[in-house]
Amino acid sequence: MNKNAIKSALNQFSAVVITGGSSGIGESFFNAIHSLNDNALYCNFSRSKPKIIESKNGFIHFPCDFSITQELNSQCSKLINILTEKGGDEKILLINNSGFGTYGQFPEPNSESQMNMLAVNICAPVYLTARLMPLLIKRGGVILNVASTAAFQPLPYMSTYAASKAFLMHWSLALNEDLKDTGVSTLTLCPGPTKTNFFVRAGFIESPMSYYPGQSSEEVVNTALLALVKGKTLTVSGWINRLLVFFSSKLPKLIVTKMAAIGLRLARLEQFKKDQ
Ligand SMILES: NC(=O)c1ccc[n+]([C@@H]2O[C@H](COP(=O)([O-])OP(=O)(O)OC[C@H]3O[C@@H](n4cnc5c(N)ncnc54)[C@H](OP(=O)(O)O)[C@@H]3O)[C@@H](O)[C@H]2O)c1
Repeated sequence: MNKNAIKSALNQFSAVVITGGSSGIGESFFNAIHSLNDNALYCNFSRSKPKIIESKNGFIHFPCDFSITQELNSQCSKLINILTEKGGDEKILLINNSGFGTYGQFPEPNSESQMNMLAVNICAPVYLTARLMPLLIKRGGVILNVASTAAFQPLPYMSTYAASKAFLMHWSLALNEDLKDTGVSTLTLCPGPTKTNFFVRAGFIESPMSYYPGQSSEEVVNTALLALVKGKTLTVSGWINRLLVFFSSKLPKLIVTKMAAIGLRLARLEQFKKDQ
């Protein structure tokens, strides 16, 4: 698949809406898409402002903490007004990427962070997608949902996070069928461990990714864009991750949960945690 094929697929979109473009995979999505399509209106939702990209049709940052419902509601309304007024009338690419996890015995670090995780990883993508749906159906588009390889199995010590990603993956796959013949489709992206701020945000003093193998955010985004061009519905990034999810989704849930717990205990990830 050459760069021109990706470029022409991306140039169908006159508006690109990304959540969590301020860091990691979201930032790499912005950079990769913008390098191939300078004509779209770019919109970002996150708490911190991402590096501004110069785009002919503009770049708008919507400061928003997804764990605060009123902020999400009002910023969604602003986005819809702007897309209606100046987002062109071609396809929309919506990338639901914002998300975070925590590591530790439930409910570490506290009950509030568990609730916030559900708000950011589940409620925000569902709400944002629902609000944008009339425009998406009118103009056509793709909804790219960033789930995880954690979506394929229960994950001890990251129980809420893995279950939130299982929700996102199943919702995204079912939505694709709901949307059949509407001109809108979904793509579910499942990265494995990736070198971003994710692990520091999850409560580690230092990312275990410095010691264990993993992909870069650019590699993950490259996989996603290739899948988008090919019109895929689900893509797991990296061949090791594809192999792991193949086996974890075939094995009985109880066995795979026990195996994950043993593996994580042996990896002794708690040595990297802030409270150690
Ligand atoms: N890194 C991995 O190993 C890995 C593996 C599989 C899946 N993923 C998924 O990939 C996605 C991107 O994560 P990443 O690895 O790029 O981590 P990251 O570098 O920590 O980026 C997370 C992004 O989510 C945004 N975010 C977090 N909390 C938010 C909130 N309350 N409201 C709005 N936005 C919020 C952050 O923006 P602000 O902080 O500016 O708000 C940031 O831009 C996540 O959904 C994650 O679950 C990551």
